Amino acid sequence: MKVFVIGLTGGVGSLAARSLQERGDSVSGLVRRAGQRDELVAAGVDATLGDLTTITPAELAGLVRGADAILFTAGAGGAGAEATSAIDGAGVDTAIEAAQIAGVRRFLLVSVFPEAWRERNLGPGFDHYIAVKKGADVALTRSGLDWVVLRPAVLLDEPGRGTVALGQAQIHTEVTRRDVADTLVALLYEPRVNRQILELARGGTPIDEAVAGVVPAR
Ligand SMILES: NC(=O)c1ccc[n+]([C@@H]2O[C@H](COP(=O)([O-])OP(=O)(O)OC[C@H]3O[C@@H](n4cnc5c(N)ncnc54)[C@H](OP(=O)(O)O)[C@@H]3O)[C@@H](O)[C@H]2O)c1
Repeated sequence: MKVFVIGLTGGVGSLAARSLQERGDSVSGLVRRAGQRDELVAAGVDATLGDLTTITPAELAGLVRGADAILFTAGAGGAGAEATSAIDGAGVDTAIEAAQIAGVRRFLLVSVFPEAWRERNLGPGFDHYIAVKKGADVALTRSGLDWVVLRPAVLLDEPGRGTVALGQAQIHTEVTRRDVADTLVALLYEPRVNRQILELARGGTPIDEAVAGVVPAR
């Protein structure tokens, strides 16, 4: 399988890329700095320099063409509302349009629980983040692509547990980036999970079983 990762140098993105490579898949993606590109290329990843806020859909289509799937796990982090709009919002629109132009049908988007940390009253910047992420979910669901929206709970940099709670609705808790990455890889390998919004949290079900559990009954 060929997977184009947007957010290749990020916490979740880099773990997913490494897992895919270990399985023998071919990984390509977008990076912002030449040093990152060189390191990734040396590791066998077909990384291209590019910035999601300036690349055009047609340019990105040229990079994703031939991929079996796009994995979008980029994000502005705490870089401010403007960056959130440009990356988590408009960046997703650009990637969707690129996928449509290039004929890449499968598109996995890492989003967030709409109710994440709302009880903490984190202020307008966080409210904006949640609204932008929801807007991106809506855009992808209307894209006509073979999409999956995965909403992980709070991300932890701890060793993976290998078990999760995955389903259309979960209680918002936390989950390790390793388990999110492994769930994304399992979803890439399960095309019958399609056009679903899934929530992912800490849980006791082995990841492959959890993904098998969201395959629709036919
Ligand atoms: N943190 C949480 O608790 C939480 C919870 C639920 C969902 N999420 C979502 O989960 C996803 C993954 O989170 P993460 O913590 O793994 O992310 P991360 O480590 O912050 O990585 C973000 C990635 O996006 C890339 N990126 C940022 N701006 C870009 C641009 N203009 N052009 C191209 N690439 C750009 C970064 O590249 P650089 O290396 O160049 O910066 C990096 O590869 C995000 O979408 C986040 O919103 C997070």
